[in-house]
Amino acid sequence: MNRNIVYVFTGTGNSLKVAKDIAAALVDCDIVSMGSNTQYDLMEGHKTIGFVLPTYYRGEPRKVTEFISRLNLEHNKNAYYYTVVTAGKYDGNTLCHIKKLLKRKGIALSYGKMLDMFSNYVVSYDMKDTVKEETKKSEIDFEPILKSIKNRESNQIPEIELLQEIAYRALIPLIPEMDEYYSVSDDCIKCGICEIVCPVGNIGLDDVGRPYFNHHCEQCMACIQFCPKRAINYKDRTQNRRRYTHPDIKYTDLAALNGNADSKIGSSSKLFSSDRKKSSSSIVAKLMAKAIWKIYGL
Ligand SMILES: Cc1cc2nc3c(=O)[nH]c(=O)nc-3n(C[C@H](O)[C@H](O)[C@H](O)COP(=O)(O)O)c2cc1C
Ligand code: SF4
Ligand code: SF4
Repeated sequence: MNRNIVYVFTGTGNSLKVAKDIAAALVDCDIVSMGSNTQYDLMEGHKTIGFVLPTYYRGEPRKVTEFISRLNLEHNKNAYYYTVVTAGKYDGNTLCHIKKLLKRKGIALSYGKMLDMFSNYVVSYDMKDTVKEETKKSEIDFEPILKSIKNRESNQIPEIELLQEIAYRALIPLIPEMDEYYSVSDDCIKCGICEIVCPVGNIGLDDVGRPYFNHHCEQCMACIQFCPKRAINYKDRTQNRRRYTHPDIKYTDLAALNGNADSKIGSSSKLFSSDRKKSSSSIVAKLMAKAIWKIYGL
């Protein structure tokens, strides 16, 4: 076990790129997935512990909430804790959420920053053709963040903004079953890439190797964006939209992160124990969520 650890959740590789750069700068640093990893006991002491994740609806992915809540940090009370949230533009309350999740464990988040990166939510809008420019800009913006983490600096984490919080809480419970609107076209070549890039084991392959979805989706976009044939689509929205994955991150990097590095592509699906809880939202909450959903254009 190394002396530093960075936990990461990623769909299209932005957060993984950041985690890799941090790990390279800190040396002796493990990168561990918050999606597929189920080791919640961190028994050995670490010098630094980081959380790198994307913003979803101005907050953290559900899986990240669950992961940090379950993480046992009893042996790491004195580590330096930091978080980097990658976002298209607006990270809303994500930093504050991570701070609160750690505070419940008696741990202070020393440093947290949002990093503006390429917006990947293809079900909601087309992918811009500015990947090169935006990637360059995010690399430049990341330099002072990396320096601060290396120097173990502290900063002020923003407080909760109420309207953002209402939207997040209304939308996030609807996410797991949005894959009901996913379809797989005849262009599918049954390569199995979608299965191994999925960070939460939500994709299985049927007898002939075509993917199906298990309704505990995180909406991370990995399957839609990494499919080499653009065969996975959301409703009728994404067929003609461009695709995006971080230029430095390949599907094999995600497979390795998910513990699928040796997977035989196209193999039949593993059984995953899902921690999915059925949403207990009231009818009013669901109607409100649907209204906000419409505003997001979904
Ligand atoms: C479900 C979903 C919701 C998103 N919501 C937001 C948002 O509220 N604000 C924002 O700036 N970007 C949002 N994004 C964009 C991502 O946060 C951003 O592209 C991130 O860097 C992707 O990281 P990844 O490549 O590690 O998955 C959203 C993306 C997805 C897939
Ligand atoms: S990644 Fe695309 S082509 Fe490959 S199995 Fe999945 S849907 Fe089919
Ligand atoms: S099914 Fe696709 S969008 Fe959903 S979590 Fe898996 S890879 Fe991400």
